[in-house]
Amino acid sequence: MGVQISPSILSADFARLGDECARVAGAADWLHVDIMDNHFVPNLTLGLPVVESLLSTVTTPVDCHLMIEDPDRWAPAYAEAGAGSVTFHVEAAAAPIKLAREIRAAGARAGMGLKPATPVDAYADLLPEIDMLLVMTVEPGFGGQRFLDVVVPKIRRARELAKGRDLDLWIQVDGGVAADTIEVCADAGADVFVAGSAVYGAADPSAAVAGLRAQAESATGSAWWCSHP
Ligand code: DX5
Ligand code: ZN
Repeated sequence: MGVQISPSILSADFARLGDECARVAGAADWLHVDIMDNHFVPNLTLGLPVVESLLSTVTTPVDCHLMIEDPDRWAPAYAEAGAGSVTFHVEAAAAPIKLAREIRAAGARAGMGLKPATPVDAYADLLPEIDMLLVMTVEPGFGGQRFLDVVVPKIRRARELAKGRDLDLWIQVDGGVAADTIEVCADAGADVFVAGSAVYGAADPSAAVAGLRAQAESATGSAWWCSHP
C-alpha cells in the first residue's frame, strides 16, 4: 500500500456525523473514529452503538482508535461489527497478543497504539502479530493539539524494526498531522496519516485530504525507507 489518509471525525460536527463522513467519501482511505472512555484519556466521545450506525451508512472503511481501559474486553466487538481496522493501546491491554489475534480472527486489521512516551523497542517481538502500529504524535485525548516532534525518531525506529523483520506493517501517525508536519512523518517511515482539524477545519475537507496525500506521496518518494527501483 502507498500513502493512506484517515480523517478523524473527532473534529467533525457530531450532530451531523453521516453528512460529515460523506464530505470525505471518495477522497479518504479510511474514516478514523476516536473512541474515548474518560478513563484511559480525560475525554469522552462515543462507543459501539454510534460506530454500528456509522458502519450502516458510510462507504469508506472505518478505522477505530480505542482510547479506553480494558480493550481486551471491548475491542473485538468493533471488529465483529464490521470496522476494517481496530486499534487498541498497548498501555491498556492486559494480553496484547491474544487481543490482536482476536481482532484478526473477527475479520479486522489489528492495530496497536503507543502513547508518546511509550517506547517501541519493548514491543518489537509483537510486531508480527499486528497489521498497523499507531505512533501517537500528541498525548491522546483531544484534537487540535500541537505535533510532538520528539516522537519522530520513534517513527523511524518502528520502520527500521519492520524492515528488519521484513514485515508489511502499516505505521500510522495521529495528532497534529497537517501540512507543516506530514512530510517529516512520511520521511521518517509513516504511511497512514490521521488528520482531524487539518481536514474538518478546512473549508473543503475533501480537497484538504488530497493536499495532504500529495505532500505525503512526494515526501515518501525520496524517503530512506522506501525501496526505489
Ligand atoms: C487524539 C485523537 C486524534 C485527533 C487528532 O487523541 O486520537 O485522532 O482527532 O486530531 P488533530 O489531527 O486535530 O490533532
Ligand atoms: Zn485517533
